[in-house]
Amino acid sequence: MTRGIFITFEGGDGVGKTTQIRLLRSALESSGFHVTQAREPGGTPLGDEIRELVLHSRGHIAPRSEALLYAADRAQNVEAVVRPALERGEVVLQDRYFDSSVAYQGSGRVLGAEDIKRISLWAAGDLVPHLTVLLDLDEASASERLLAQKKPYDRFESEKAEFHARVRQAFLDIATAEPQRFLVIDARLSETDIADRILSRVSPLLDNLEK
Ligand code: TYD
Repeated sequence: MTRGIFITFEGGDGVGKTTQIRLLRSALESSGFHVTQAREPGGTPLGDEIRELVLHSRGHIAPRSEALLYAADRAQNVEAVVRPALERGEVVLQDRYFDSSVAYQGSGRVLGAEDIKRISLWAAGDLVPHLTVLLDLDEASASERLLAQKKPYDRFESEKAEFHARVRQAFLDIATAEPQRFLVIDARLSETDIADRILSRVSPLLDNLEK
């Protein structure tokens, strides 16, 4: 058994996960908790190389190769970053985890949710988050936000609206199937409103955690 608390953040591209992770991190650290921040893809030296491949290479990547690259990144991140932090009794805040694979590769790439979840859980040694925050936003608003950010070419962000609609629906379906693990929040709410909701759900999880 691990001693820490594992919280993941999910949602489409451009929904504001990074901002909310930053806000939660600073709230927890001001209360004296130890926080480790992680992300997928990337966050380990091997993961950074995989991230470059899956997000920015311009050649065709077969959907099954893509799914396995994310799984390889996940295996590395869990072993090298997440489990050690949980064993130290810390709070791990992670930007994306296996629900992203189920939504993007399972539904976006149409590989099927069950196979993708099985591969992901195998890669992660069955590590399931205590809480997953899903920031939900319709594709039109999300793509407006992304355009405003003017980021470099990204294989996913350049996908069509229909792809992002499938991904969004997949996230909502996963959350409905596991209501005890998920907190779903409308990403159009104000930053502070969202942060408050997240903190109220997280606080009880920290009751028995050492500072
Ligand atoms: P990132 O820049 O982290 O996206 P964002 O800042 O929008 O969260 O890029 C991650 C991209 O990789 C994102 O488009 C979703 C995709 N992805 C998958 O397709 N499968 C996965 O398992 C993960 C973790 C991410």
